[in-house]
Amino acid sequence: MENKRKITIFDTTLRDGEQSPGAAMTVDQKIEMAIALDKLGIDRIEAGFPVSSPVQFSAVQRIGQAVKTATVTGLARCTVKDIDAVRDALKDCPRRMIHVFIATSPLHMKHKLKMTKDEVLNSITKHVSYAREQGFDLVEFSPEDASRTEWEFLLKALQTAVDAGANTLNIPDTVGYAMPDEYGARIAAIKEAIPELGKSVLLSTHCHNDLGLALANSLAAVKAGADQVEVTLNGIGERAGNASLEELVMALKVRLDLWNIETNINHKQLYPASKLLQNITGLMISRNKPIFGDNVFSHESGIHQHGVIRHRETYEIMDPEDIGRSRDSLVLGRHSGKAALKEKLDRYSISLNDEQYGQLYEKFIIIADRKKEVYDEDLLPLVADILSTSTAAGWHLDNFQTLTGNGLIPTATVKMSKNDECKQVAKDGDGPVDAIFKAIDQCVGISGRLTEYRIQAVGSGQDAQGQVNLQVDINGKLVNGRASSTDIIEASALAYINAVNRLELMPETRENLEISP
Ligand code: KIV
Ligand code: ZN
Repeated sequence: MENKRKITIFDTTLRDGEQSPGAAMTVDQKIEMAIALDKLGIDRIEAGFPVSSPVQFSAVQRIGQAVKTATVTGLARCTVKDIDAVRDALKDCPRRMIHVFIATSPLHMKHKLKMTKDEVLNSITKHVSYAREQGFDLVEFSPEDASRTEWEFLLKALQTAVDAGANTLNIPDTVGYAMPDEYGARIAAIKEAIPELGKSVLLSTHCHNDLGLALANSLAAVKAGADQVEVTLNGIGERAGNASLEELVMALKVRLDLWNIETNINHKQLYPASKLLQNITGLMISRNKPIFGDNVFSHESGIHQHGVIRHRETYEIMDPEDIGRSRDSLVLGRHSGKAALKEKLDRYSISLNDEQYGQLYEKFIIIADRKKEVYDEDLLPLVADILSTSTAAGWHLDNFQTLTGNGLIPTATVKMSKNDECKQVAKDGDGPVDAIFKAIDQCVGISGRLTEYRIQAVGSGQDAQGQVNLQVDINGKLVNGRASSTDIIEASALAYINAVNRLELMPETRENLEISP
């Protein structure tokens, strides 16, 4: 089809996404993720909220320098301090933008901001024009909680922002309250009411998933004329998350016949980027998550299997290769050399430094010696372990022993070290895993509360590895940990230690994320 309409993809994985419990990343991890998003073809990357902490500031600054193609933006409340922080963080960024927001709904203005309508309008004028004066040619304005904002006041706030120099108007459904028809109608009416839209100003959509409608609302907005969609990879984000990047772009691609819309997304990079995010944050997606879930291209019932064997399209509307999932995976084995391993990593866009690569190769050889064939499911957990341990060097499990059985009190002894410090502790517990976690707590000097624990077999056969993903609450901070081993007690202990080590590197991202000025 000719004359496709183009929409801009604004990715906020590193800002709204990072606000998901347990999704905090280190600066290096954010840079790695930003590079993957850039490679994916994202037009605008929201890199963080610079005023909220020195770590956030440094992440936005370094992403601004590292990203090659995308425009990089930082978030600012309507305050001079916030805008200055984005200006300073992005001063060396060649394609920079600022995203300024203030709440406009009666609820937020009364209870959170404690500001009148006039005060809010004055603040918009003052701060949007201040952002322009700081040299930002691209200024996005968001009336927070737009879908619960009174219509007349919403229009006033938007027009005020345009008059002060905003050239993207974003309409956040902050609490995921809107219904698709209603949200679409609001977008259409805004487009109609603000004369600059469709000319010098872009109209953007930002939907949360509290009612599972983030994608439907975003598509309704696109249908109603939105030029930009704000999304996160894997749909991570505050509470139930944001509209998911992969679902949006694949809906547009699979139903190109209906939409006739294109984006700059390089679809083959979608799956590798999703894997990278899961490995970095430890936030694993569910098996039935659209587009990326393990079950999405597997067929259980005989009728479906038969159909797919005869003709793939009977039960599949996407080709896994279109999103970078390979069907005929390159199976590695004992005789695969370093080049084959490298090729496999390239397919997933995983870049390791020499030291990490050496560690991976050693682990790979051990597994390949035990198993005839090493599948992606065997290899990717190893990469994840290496990425998380090398970014979280800290406590190390030297050895452990557990005693358990019918009629026995389960006991664990662990010996752990960190730099020159070495500790050995024995504890009992409700089971061997509980006992080992308690022993680790005592060695490290913390008191962790397990909030999530999942174990799954990865790889095939009896020698499959047990992969443990867990989340621990340590002094009110949620940290994810993951590890794999053929011994599930060891995998559990290593995952717990991984979480403990991540905590030390965890940026103080949430401390200052108060969103009222
Ligand atoms: O959901 C929201 O309202 C936001 C704003 C900061 C745009 O994330
Ligand atoms: Zn949001």
